Amino acid sequence: MYIERKPTINLAELKKEFTSNLGEIEYAQSSEQALEELFNFIELQHNYAAALEEIGTKLKILDDEFQVAYKHNPIHHMEKRVKEFPSLIKKLGRKGFPLNADSAKKNIQDIAGMRVVCNYLEDVYTIEKLLLRQADVKLLKRKDYIENPKLNGYKSLHIVVSIPVFLAESVQVIPVEIQIRTIGMDMWASLEHKLRYKNTHVSTEQYQEKLKECSIEITNVEQKMQEMNDEIYQDETDHLL
Ligand code: GTP
Ligand code: MG
Repeated sequence: MYIERKPTINLAELKKEFTSNLGEIEYAQSSEQALEELFNFIELQHNYAAALEEIGTKLKILDDEFQVAYKHNPIHHMEKRVKEFPSLIKKLGRKGFPLNADSAKKNIQDIAGMRVVCNYLEDVYTIEKLLLRQADVKLLKRKDYIENPKLNGYKSLHIVVSIPVFLAESVQVIPVEIQIRTIGMDMWASLEHKLRYKNTHVSTEQYQEKLKECSIEITNVEQKMQEMNDEIYQDETDHLL
């Protein structure tokens, strides 16, 4: 299953976003400069969407191959997104970087984001290993919040990799942030995110303890399920041998 959160570029939406954020592009002193910058951002979004396509295809090929070889799909589903223009501008501003496309390229590593939701814990590390083994994929950053969960209970493996994208006139090496997690971790993160951002009248604090407990319980359940799956899987391969 492959879920795409957004089309790669929606020009009408981009125009609207850009118009409302134009005032923030501090150095755009003329309309020509502003227009130039608009095109730089469109090009950037387009190229980062292409990098996501490349990574998505690699992951799909790995998943398909696993199904054929081991009768098991490590990936439950994937989601991808290119950071939208307003949140990219906001992040640049927040971190004190210049507000232009070049600066975004240089300073922001999560413009292209892929979330890989795996069936079992072991699958998370299998996917990482198989992806990083590929010659054109380079690891730039790694944070293992499964080995070291955040205090709130958040778990996921985060890696930032770069991948070359072959364009008509050039080859661009583009970073992609990949969050790899299990279905249970994804369920937890979705609820925690909703509580934090969407529900303004309920404070997250109220749920802090419960969320932590859930994170621990989810880990236990997923471990048990993994063990059962391993037993079945073992029987199946024994039978095949
Ligand atoms: P930034 O520059 O702030 O993006 O830092 P970073 O990319 O080094 O941060 P990190 O790798 O810790 O987190 C990146 C992404 O992981 C976030 O944008 C979220 O999507 C996700 N994430 C991290 N922590 C949490 C959390 O506590 N709860 C949830 N729901 N998601 C989280
Ligand atoms: Mg980030």
